Amino acid sequence: MLSEQEIANIRKDFPILEREVYGKTLAYFDNGATTQKPLQVINRIRDYYLNQNANIHRGNHYLSNLGTDAFEAAREYCRAHIHASDTKEIIFTKGTTESINMVASGLSHLLEEHDEILISTMEHHSNIVPWQMLCEKTGAKLKIIPLNEKGELDLTAFEALLNEKTKILSIAHISNVLGTVNPVNELCEKARASHCITLVDGAQAIAHSAVDVQEINCDFYVFSGHKAYAPMGCGILYGKKEMLEKLSPWQGGGEMIDQVSFENTTYNELPFRQEAGTPNVEAVLGMEEALKYINNTGLENIAAREKQLLDYATSEMDRIGGISIIGQAREKASVLSFLVDGVHPYDAGTIIDRMGIAVRTGHHCAQPLMDFLEIPGTIRASFAFYNTFEEIDRLVQAIERVKQMFL
Ligand code: ALA
Repeated sequence: MLSEQEIANIRKDFPILEREVYGKTLAYFDNGATTQKPLQVINRIRDYYLNQNANIHRGNHYLSNLGTDAFEAAREYCRAHIHASDTKEIIFTKGTTESINMVASGLSHLLEEHDEILISTMEHHSNIVPWQMLCEKTGAKLKIIPLNEKGELDLTAFEALLNEKTKILSIAHISNVLGTVNPVNELCEKARASHCITLVDGAQAIAHSAVDVQEINCDFYVFSGHKAYAPMGCGILYGKKEMLEKLSPWQGGGEMIDQVSFENTTYNELPFRQEAGTPNVEAVLGMEEALKYINNTGLENIAAREKQLLDYATSEMDRIGGISIIGQAREKASVLSFLVDGVHPYDAGTIIDRMGIAVRTGHHCAQPLMDFLEIPGTIRASFAFYNTFEEIDRLVQAIERVKQMFL
């Protein structure tokens, strides 16, 4: 367990947490949208541009070789972090969205009319729209797993929906709105027994818990670096080697080829076949540094701290009353979506923002979930281990202010 002194030291690694907004010290609770970056990550990027910058995999000069080695070492670090069996299974992408699009587009030759793709009601738009586009292209049908009143997947309905026509199951590991942690091992096991391809969207999981892709035994696992203290514009598509081999290349260009002539082109081996063009080298190196930061802090310590923050915030909301918490799953990550009863979430969000507190307000890129819940949106506080109980007290005071002003 991290002590308060250790948290104070950790906060020094994130200087942005000391800045002021509207004359008040920032309380940053929008970690589900993006996390802040520690100095170690910022300094890694600075060092890259001061000492290493060159295009990788292409040149044969000192700096290019240095960059190539560093980039491939980062791939190995990412492989080990999620316990993939081979670096060929780690594709660097722009983030979760690009990773899912790469899979949806790359699998189109395997789908036919009347095939089915299974997702759930709690998915982010990036795990809905690429599949809708694939359905449009192939004539396949999108099927939706409903939720129970706590915001958990209805597992009976899941089993009823899974059938021989289901070709792909694509499911969030953790909901960005409800915080629900889905039983992905069990879901993937059932899908596998039904010969269904599985993708797990780990965007909200990667910063909060250890991910072991071999234990989950999914075909694909995707995430963005920036939700785990890394720079924006980088992420990972993990795929079992035999599944990545089935994907048609996502983009054509440099580095993804073996031989090119005007008559014919042959493709490079994995992972390069899916990485056309100059990659985002500095972001990948920053992502390696961010994962090191997480590992040095300890994922168990992070999870324990974030559970304390969630429990404290939840009990404070219960204590003040007049708050509806959206998402009451038994297995829940540090995401607290709520409504102040009788107040539109945008009105509440505006007051909270003015008090120097960053929360996300709205549909959180999950409009179908909002329709299911019959609400316009929520106010979402998503906690990271650097948050403090005092910051949560400030959020509670801000909610009291909202109530005074609107009720
Ligand atoms: N997916 C991000 C969020 O939930 C942007 O806020």
